Amino acid sequence: MAEFDLVVIGAGPGGYVAAIRAAQLGKKVACVEKETMLGGTCLRVGCIPSKALLESSHLYEQATHGFEQRGIKIGKTTLDLAAMQRHKLEVVKTLGGGIDGLLKKNKITRVLGHATITAPGQVTVQTKDGPQVLQAETILIATGSQPATLPGIELDGDRIGSSTESLACEEVPKHLVVIGAGAIGLELGTVWRRLGAKVTVLEYLDRILPGMDAEIARDAHKVLQRQGLEFRLGTKVTGAKVTRKVCEVSIDGASSIKCDRMLVAVGRKPNTENLGLANVGIETDKRGFIPVNAHYQTAASGIYAIGDVIGGAMLAHKAEEEGIACVEHLYTGYGHVNNNAIPAVVYTEPEVASVGLTEEQLQADGIEYRKGTFPFAANGRARASGQIEGKVKVLAHAATDRVLGVHIIGPHAGELIAEAAVAIEFGASSEDIARTCHAHPTLAETLKEAALSADGRAIHI
Ligand code: NAI
Repeated sequence: MAEFDLVVIGAGPGGYVAAIRAAQLGKKVACVEKETMLGGTCLRVGCIPSKALLESSHLYEQATHGFEQRGIKIGKTTLDLAAMQRHKLEVVKTLGGGIDGLLKKNKITRVLGHATITAPGQVTVQTKDGPQVLQAETILIATGSQPATLPGIELDGDRIGSSTESLACEEVPKHLVVIGAGAIGLELGTVWRRLGAKVTVLEYLDRILPGMDAEIARDAHKVLQRQGLEFRLGTKVTGAKVTRKVCEVSIDGASSIKCDRMLVAVGRKPNTENLGLANVGIETDKRGFIPVNAHYQTAASGIYAIGDVIGGAMLAHKAEEEGIACVEHLYTGYGHVNNNAIPAVVYTEPEVASVGLTEEQLQADGIEYRKGTFPFAANGRARASGQIEGKVKVLAHAATDRVLGVHIIGPHAGELIAEAAVAIEFGASSEDIARTCHAHPTLAETLKEAALSADGRAIHI
């Protein structure tokens, strides 16, 4: 029986990062993962492969429609989807190997198999050679989540698929129906639209991107619609079936749409099956998440949980921060996550990015705020690169000027939001951003101008 200070269950971005941090702090660590590739959903079937396909499909779209306007003629462009998929797999494989190397470098014991907590301080792993028992002073659950579905819809691993199937598709669907206008639906809907599919997005709410600032989400809706995504908002999907390669999606139990592939992107559910929670007296909440306290401790002493499995924003970087905070608090007495400074990015074109509070949240909380906006159309770099759609919005406290939220739709919004996250983390005012010299010409100048605009003194508009 092997003995460890910490056994981490799950090697996604939450788990493997926590394992590395604990090892850095001098602890003897094991990380159990049931998949042969480390990196979790994010690396295998999430963030990374989707970004590879988004980048590649963007290049394809540029080559077919975009380059000519810029004076570049390249003749007829053809799509080699198999090569595009190979590139994606290569990226995933390289990064997966990188995580292997990181675990080795940090002397973390890697165990391959499904882990169950069999008793306090004891994890049993079903390995290919039979059960292996690990003794642990502390156990950290970082098992992540999996695609959820709707009543009346069974994911068939093929035509009625989740993001996993949509990422692996070997031919461009003729008509893809996406259920859910969240990040997954919009990103993968965009990939397949660019590659030639007709894409219809069905969304239950009367808006897209729930949780994002409503004004920015409305702008995103308009742009994506103009690009060719067809949206049906206020539409409740009630069932789906496949008959001889044709999917039929039922809407409100009254009408239906036929298509050749479906992507069900209605959220994700926590992975807690066969984890042995009952063996140590941990009960999940009514949505299946593991309840934890401010330091990520579960109801059982010595057992902690972080990432998607505890709920909140289901984001790789949120899990990473929680993993580090949990481990640092355990071994140093300090460590915490500022939930208000966790950025969110949707990698459509333009990108949508957000950090801090939305206007709706400020209004609901009765917080007085000032708002500054600046359009990319008035930014030199955006003009020069032909990416003028979108804007930056800065929300600052009316009395203290502290930055409360920043919301961006525009080119490289996902990169630009980092500055806003730093500002919020440091408790900056919009005046601080406005007085910080930004290089010219850069897209980042839009944030400075939006901050100036919060005080009614933007220069370039
Ligand atoms: P989501 O929760 O973001 O969006 C699901 C959408 O489905 C919602 O708009 C909801 O109203 C809609 N919906 C629910 N039931 C419906 C019904 N019966 N008919 C029609 N629409 C219905 O979930 P999504 O996009 O699946 O993403 C899962 C998680 O992964 C989220 O937490 C998301 O933030 C995260 N993620 C983040 C990414 C990023 O940061 N770029 C990329 C991919 C996923």
